[in-house]
Amino acid sequence: MTAAPAVRPAVRMDEIVSLCARRGFIFQSGEIYGGINGFWDYGPLGVELKNNLKAFWWQRMVRDREDIEGIDSAIITHPRTWEASGHVANFSDPMVDCRACKKRFRADQLDGIAGCDAREGTSQHDFTEPRAFNLMLSTQIGASSDASAVAYLRAETCGSIFTDFRRVREAGRQKIPFGIAQIGKAFRNEINPRNFTFRSREFEQAEMEFFCHPGESAKWFEHWRDLRIQFHRDLGMGADQLRIIPHTTLAHYAKAAVDIEFLFPFGWQEIEGIHDRGSFDLTQHAEFSGKDLSVTIEETKERFVPAVVETSVGVDRTALALLCNGYAEEKLPDGETRTVLRLAPVVAPIKAAVLPLSKKLSEKTQRIAADLRKRWNVFHDDAGNIGRRYRRQDEVGTPYCVTYDFDSDTDAKVTVRERDAMTQDRVSLDSLRGYLEERLEGWR
Ligand code: GAP
Repeated sequence: MTAAPAVRPAVRMDEIVSLCARRGFIFQSGEIYGGINGFWDYGPLGVELKNNLKAFWWQRMVRDREDIEGIDSAIITHPRTWEASGHVANFSDPMVDCRACKKRFRADQLDGIAGCDAREGTSQHDFTEPRAFNLMLSTQIGASSDASAVAYLRAETCGSIFTDFRRVREAGRQKIPFGIAQIGKAFRNEINPRNFTFRSREFEQAEMEFFCHPGESAKWFEHWRDLRIQFHRDLGMGADQLRIIPHTTLAHYAKAAVDIEFLFPFGWQEIEGIHDRGSFDLTQHAEFSGKDLSVTIEETKERFVPAVVETSVGVDRTALALLCNGYAEEKLPDGETRTVLRLAPVVAPIKAAVLPLSKKLSEKTQRIAADLRKRWNVFHDDAGNIGRRYRRQDEVGTPYCVTYDFDSDTDAKVTVRERDAMTQDRVSLDSLRGYLEERLEGWR
């Protein structure tokens, strides 16, 4: 056994941003034009990471359960949806403008902002009074440009879960309690997008609305709070990196709310919210649509508007948390330093890399890689020395490297190196698939 490597305790955000750009996880959208603030593109490794994260959420939240149905709704939801939910009237942040430099800031986030560069003799901004700035992004539908054509890009994915409630319940033959889940894009015209992808203007949410009897919502709230914190732990986030913070002030209709926070390099910040929303949502949509959204319990004939317990997690924020959680620079016993991304295998973009010791062996390793690719995202690399190839895989979080050497021809075995402990096993080619399956899919 090698000595445990020294793990650098504090991760810097600029290291994460630089790794993400260099290795094609995440970079600015429209980079060649100077980028566009609050919008990000996921490259070849980033899209794998994000897809894996979404698939894990979908498995846990939809497929593992009989009481949750999935949907995929339109991004532009009927405009009345946002009137009913209160977004048109109230979904705003307080904003101030500097009269001198013309920059715009969130009035509640003025600590630490850069000074004004347009005033003589002072760097103090000349702020206007705070004004409410609605965060919904709007668009026009069709050729006409009057007010009736205005529609909104959804500010959260749950809007259509409520408007689809009756249809999905009937189609899925579900009885209360049951939930509806969806993953998708949401848009907010954030005044100050910041901290890389943490606060973006276009992002993805994975939301689940659990419809239950109002008298049982407290019980379901606890159920979902506990399952959701476990989800993040199962993704490898340490107990000391996660915390649950109850809201001190609640919306008038809400019964309880907590945030799950992760310790980012820029401090504790929310990655998920769990809310007991009472019967507010369905009551509002029933009123605005004129449709009856109440349910009747068959046995007792009791009729009521279901209460909702919501779990709402940011996909991009969780992906960023996973990158921060996994990132380490380690000093190795031989004096070298390696960057390693300790991602849980379930989300790792590449599950295994197949590496021939020499280019002469590439034909055989290409065949091994092709076979493994039927099942996983597998990378083949025959360029450069083997140590450097291991480092390139460590840096992007590949859990296993499979090396084919000159003995492999005679003993039909390969060396499998594990990313974190860097231990190596000699594994027969016949059992390679099973070996990887056990380790990559043990969570299933
Ligand atoms: N339906 C409830 C809802 O949308 P929220 O707290 O506004 O609640 C839920 O958002 C989650 O969506 C947050 O915990 C966060 O992970 C993610 N999120 C919200 N705004 C975001 C933004 N501007 N950029 C990235 N993720 C965001």
